[in-house]
Amino acid sequence: MRSNMCRISILLLLACYGAMSAVVDVPKYKMLDGREMPAIGLGTYLGFDKGGAVTSKDKQLRNVVTEAIDVGYRHFDTAAIYNTESEVGEAIRMKIEEGVIKREDVFLTTKLWNTHHKREEVIIAMKETLNKTGLDYVDLFLMHWPIGVNADYTHSDTDFMETWHAMEDMVKLGFTKSIGLSNFNKMQIQRVLNEGTIKPVALQIEVHPQIIQEELIAFAKAEGIVVMGYSPFGSLVMRFGMEFPGPKMDDPVLTSLAQKYGKTPAQIVLRWLVDRNVVPIPKTVNPKRLRENINIFDFKLEEDEIEKINQFDSNTRYTLPSFWQTHPYYPFEQIPNPIPDPFRS
Ligand SMILES: NC(=O)c1ccc[n+]([C@@H]2O[C@H](COP(=O)([O-])OP(=O)(O)OC[C@H]3O[C@@H](n4cnc5c(N)ncnc54)[C@H](OP(=O)(O)O)[C@@H]3O)[C@@H](O)[C@H]2O)c1
Ligand SMILES: *[C@@H]1O[C@H](CO)[C@@H](O)[C@H](O)[C@H]1NC(C)=O
Repeated sequence: MRSNMCRISILLLLACYGAMSAVVDVPKYKMLDGREMPAIGLGTYLGFDKGGAVTSKDKQLRNVVTEAIDVGYRHFDTAAIYNTESEVGEAIRMKIEEGVIKREDVFLTTKLWNTHHKREEVIIAMKETLNKTGLDYVDLFLMHWPIGVNADYTHSDTDFMETWHAMEDMVKLGFTKSIGLSNFNKMQIQRVLNEGTIKPVALQIEVHPQIIQEELIAFAKAEGIVVMGYSPFGSLVMRFGMEFPGPKMDDPVLTSLAQKYGKTPAQIVLRWLVDRNVVPIPKTVNPKRLRENINIFDFKLEEDEIEKINQFDSNTRYTLPSFWQTHPYYPFEQIPNPIPDPFRS
């Protein structure tokens, strides 16, 4: 149908081409240090299997990231433990070389892994990250967890404030523009605010309809910290190759909103995050879903519609490393883990 219409005239052809190749203009949040973070990021964690983090084959992820840049993504979320820093970096460098973007147009978030919490190890990890990305600096360096472990994954008692001070040095050295936290609870964030020299500008936590994080988001917002929401689709998608209880793509609350706005249930959930000032970082390696997930900045949910989605809340986490529950800095409630443990050594 569309392709037939496109043949009618040059004008229509141009319009059709425009509609198909539209670059989405993503808004940004101002952070505490004056820098800006694009309001959506592309997740690049490809999951795990028996061999650890799943790695990209035949430059699949690199190609996804270059395509993402073409459709308007300007923010990428990676981590040392994901094994994706090099392909994300490669894609960014390719697009800079092509002249499509400048380095300052993209925002790269990465994370320090738990095995490198000691002061002298932070700089080693940082340099390894820069080496892998092939870039001079990253935009945001997050402490992935408050939990430090030794090389053999036994618990380390390294204080996360020692780690934080070392991360502050990374800003001073110019290796990262900003620093922040991931998987920290309110008391732990408060400690960093009280004892740190630089305030964390961002907090990355699990946020989806089954864990709406009302209290922690309100706390972060009051402190001026930008919240990034990981695993935004919650139970809507398969996790660890399994289905979990909770709303699915055919949920009537989501499908009725999708119909009202001419969007998909996945887009409704991403917009619900945006309307709560949370930066969603959905992961996809599928070209169609890549476009779908960023196409959420031309509508807005009403207050009562946000509230309706909030009702799914059941404080359900899919990232729940139970083997760290006995660590002195374990950030979450200590409850039995019904799902597989990622990152088990
Ligand atoms: N800080 C942390 O501790 C932490 C923990 C977990 C995750 N993260 C970050 O958050 C990112 C996202 O989280 P996540 O990967 O756990 O979960 P997610 O983004 O909620 O879900 C990803 C899954 O949804 C599918 N999907 C994507 N878009 C879709 C759409 N529009 N419709 C239907 N299915 C869709 C993807 O498959 P396809 O690829 O086939 O589309 C993939 O299976 C990660 O990649 C990582 O960067 C951080
Ligand atoms: C990364 O480190 C390796 C090994 O030390 C080196 O050969 C390579 O040139 C480095 N790459 C970059 C981009 O600095």
